[in-house]
Amino acid sequence: MKRQNLPAVFALSMIFSLLTLTGQANPKTEADTLQVPQNVKVILNNSCFGCHNTDSRNDDAKEELDLKTWHQLTGTKRLLALKHIRETIEENEMPPKKFLQHKPEKALSAEQKKLLIDWVKQESSALLKK
Ligand code: HEC
Repeated sequence: MKRQNLPAVFALSMIFSLLTLTGQANPKTEADTLQVPQNVKVILNNSCFGCHNTDSRNDDAKEELDLKTWHQLTGTKRLLALKHIRETIEENEMPPKKFLQHKPEKALSAEQKKLLIDWVKQESSALLKK
């Protein structure tokens, strides 16, 4: 590559990483169909979506929970999914410990756990009122 191309390559790679950071260049890593509050969505996208989505190579994970089709889960099915999410969080089962050894940044903080559990409670009681 010619030397004078370097600034252009640099500029392009900056733009690309900005797009990636804002999630626009890579919609597959985001649950666009996940209709949950934004603060919950950020956590689920960061710590859960990678395994729990329709296109995941992790068959066990997507069979248990597919966040990409979350909007299709209604009534009792959604209630059950919420219950399971709450249980796995309270028992520190998710994300799996083995996975966290390689990606400790995906672990849920105490604050994130509380946020998810509060969301599960709210969403469940709203469903029960219907
Ligand atoms: C590295 C991949 C991976 C990540 C990341 C991950 N999971 Fe899982 N999850 C799995 C696998 C594999 C299973 C099925 C086997 C099992 O239960 O251990 C599973 C199972 C589950 C189940 C069903 C468990 C049950 O017994 O009902 C729930 C609910 C769940 N995960 C929620 C989550 C949530 C919430 C997050 C994010 C905080 C998350 N998972 C992150 C791989 C993952």
